[in-house]
Amino acid sequence: MRIDVISIFPDYFAPLDLSLIGKARESGLLDLRVHDLRGWAHDRHRTVDDSPAGGGAGMVLRPEPWGEAFDELDVEGAELNRSVVVFPSPSGVPFTQDLAADLATRARLVVGCGRYEGIDQRVIDHVAGRAEVLEVSLGDYVLNGGEVAAMAMIEAVVRLLPGFMGNPDSVVEESHADGLLEYPVYTRPRTWRGLDIPDVLTSGDHGAITRWRQDQALRRTARRRPDLIHPSRVDADEELRLVQPADAGELLTLQRACWVQEQQANPDVDIPALSETLHDVEEWLREWVVLVLRRGGRLVGAARGRTHGTSWDVGRLMVAPDLQGLGLGRRLLAEIEACAPPEVTTYELYTGAGSAENIRMYQRAGYRLSGWGDAGEVPGAVRLTKRRRD
Ligand SMILES: C[S@@+](CC[C@H](N)C(=O)[O-])C[C@H]1O[C@@H](n2cnc3c(N)ncnc32)[C@H](O)[C@@H]1O
Repeated sequence: MRIDVISIFPDYFAPLDLSLIGKARESGLLDLRVHDLRGWAHDRHRTVDDSPAGGGAGMVLRPEPWGEAFDELDVEGAELNRSVVVFPSPSGVPFTQDLAADLATRARLVVGCGRYEGIDQRVIDHVAGRAEVLEVSLGDYVLNGGEVAAMAMIEAVVRLLPGFMGNPDSVVEESHADGLLEYPVYTRPRTWRGLDIPDVLTSGDHGAITRWRQDQALRRTARRRPDLIHPSRVDADEELRLVQPADAGELLTLQRACWVQEQQANPDVDIPALSETLHDVEEWLREWVVLVLRRGGRLVGAARGRTHGTSWDVGRLMVAPDLQGLGLGRRLLAEIEACAPPEVTTYELYTGAGSAENIRMYQRAGYRLSGWGDAGEVPGAVRLTKRRRD
């Protein structure tokens, strides 16, 4: 692969001589050429910027040096469809592992690094008429220039080139490779400062290790990046996802259907889930992390969670009455627990003191009775708590 980088700070790219990228350059796997934009400026001071048209703060990179740079570097290139011009930009499309994998299949990348307030828009529009152009953002924050973003992108792309990694499996098993974050990793010693490697990893049972890793990857992803959990990760006709405002009406109906039996088991208790209005539901949807489960399009389950100090308050765990007893409640409980942020040390929930079936289900899931809601918290309810263990 050939990569041309254009920047007013070519020295920024010195680290790309080091480590595995340096080796890839030495071996010829990567032909990386860094160009100083000022080399295409012709005045005495090698000026490349000017004040913004229309006024405002800062400076903008002028178009002429860029035009000459792209002419000289022949951006059209011989490898039609296999070369891309990338402009790092905070208003670009997000840089993802999928995009890195796509770029790694190209024969040539040209990267134009902006500075100041950015590059005159006509440069990007003009190049777009000559080659495939991508404006790409490293993340939702603003850097001083495109150099750091370009280095991150180059590293992510080049490590995917066939022959770059000694063991090609290392890039297959990583975070984002299959749409999930990677499971936690450990090495020797087996015990360090009183902390053990999880037993399963030293069991020699490869099937169990694979299952543990898949489970950990899912939990970590659900907790840290629920946006990455794709509906296809649950059964074919099921969709587990974060709630959307449009779910409120069905959620209200489902919770009424689910809490009717609770009222029978706890006749003297005032159960909010039965008296809430649509407006009330819409209100709490804004304050809680809420997961909903749909089967064949129908909303059949939900659970909510939110932090309270170092606890994760779990609530409104509901499964449609005709689907109870199939393990959906346990699954929803595990998923909502997995959404708790890292600082959480305990899961906490309330259920009716007369709801023997529910209490047993929570106990099977590792919860212990830890208090009576009559102590002023939730009259007629019991508190159950569970220590976090991952
Ligand atoms: C200070 S920034 C310009 C920000 C621009 N005025 C705006 O508000 O979108 C200067 C240059 O840094 C680079 N840059 C800044 N943030 C970036 C990000 N999140 N991803 C990629 N490039 C970024 C771009 O090349 C940009 O032209």
